[in-house]
Amino acid sequence: MKLNILVTAGDGIGPEVTNEAVAVLQEIATLGGHELSFMEKRIGGVAIVADGTPLPADTLDAALASDAVLLGAVGGNEFNSLPPDKRPEAGLLAIRAALGGFANLRPAFAFKELAVNSPLRPEIIEGADILFVRELLGGLYFGQPREWNRESGEAWNTMRYTRSEVARVARVAFELAARRRKKLTSVDKANVLEVSQLWRATVTEVAKEFPGVALEHQYVDAMAMHILNRPRDFDVVLTENLFGDILTDESGVITGSLGMLPSATIGGKVNLYEPVHGSAPDIAGKGLANPLGAILTAALILRYSGGLEAEAAAIESSVRKVLEQGFRTPDLARGNTQGVTVLSTKEMGAKVRETVKEQLVAISS
Ligand code: IPM
Ligand code: MG
Repeated sequence: MKLNILVTAGDGIGPEVTNEAVAVLQEIATLGGHELSFMEKRIGGVAIVADGTPLPADTLDAALASDAVLLGAVGGNEFNSLPPDKRPEAGLLAIRAALGGFANLRPAFAFKELAVNSPLRPEIIEGADILFVRELLGGLYFGQPREWNRESGEAWNTMRYTRSEVARVARVAFELAARRRKKLTSVDKANVLEVSQLWRATVTEVAKEFPGVALEHQYVDAMAMHILNRPRDFDVVLTENLFGDILTDESGVITGSLGMLPSATIGGKVNLYEPVHGSAPDIAGKGLANPLGAILTAALILRYSGGLEAEAAAIESSVRKVLEQGFRTPDLARGNTQGVTVLSTKEMGAKVRETVKEQLVAISS
């Protein structure tokens, strides 16, 4: 297998965690005789400083010429006063749009070992395993018109979807559900919004193509509560861009840390892979960041761009294993240091690589 991966590590903890994800991928390439090549380009705040724009043309060109893009994180406090189209986040939205992936897959599952980190009771989260499918190219993030009119003191954004935009992401969600527990929950606000009425009607229509999958609809406000009350009841959860942004951060509570959540964006020209967490500028550069979200994102590259299911699963089970063995980054250890070994970003990466190696050698012998 051969893959050209563009690495856009971005800002804050992005470079540190991405380094560890790349190192795990390199380990797997070496062990399995796969050719993975990596190129690095700037995005976000670092690109604003160096190139005057959050998405330089050579980053975009390299992304479009690659087989997969691995992104770290974007954003920093020094850019907080800039308007949305000048901020680091604009670079991320622009690369998402250019690559064309509309289905953002965000798995959220409970790790038994991290249950103590969750404010939810262990018996509530145990066994929870949700796959969010967040529409990534529509809704309020991209809808026109949008403006802050300083003279009139008004501002507006537009939540807009077409039937085909809803149908294509719904198909991805149904297909994934068909391969899992065959249940799809579509989240909207159809009691108030026309866009959500279109969303609900379209998803209901697409459901006819997937008679084996049970479809339910939930309003987003109720869903925000159900996720915390009964997370095990959900399998695949389909929703529009902003609702998905919010609900997936919320689901970090199930996992015990936002630092554990990976994501893959598929359906476009080039798949884009990014952990759900942000750039965490307060802890950047100190070796405190949790690389496991980025490492689990690397697993998704192997699964969705490399077709290497066994290797992807080996990364995922290695992450479980190092947690079982009591290894934690500081965000995961919190106050609970009993029976726990606190590791730096690099040490945690090395532990996962060691375990991946053991697992893959065991599989192949
Ligand atoms: C995410 C992030 C981004 C988003 C930001 C950084 C633009 O919160 O990937 O969830 O809102 O999509
Ligand atoms: Mg978000």
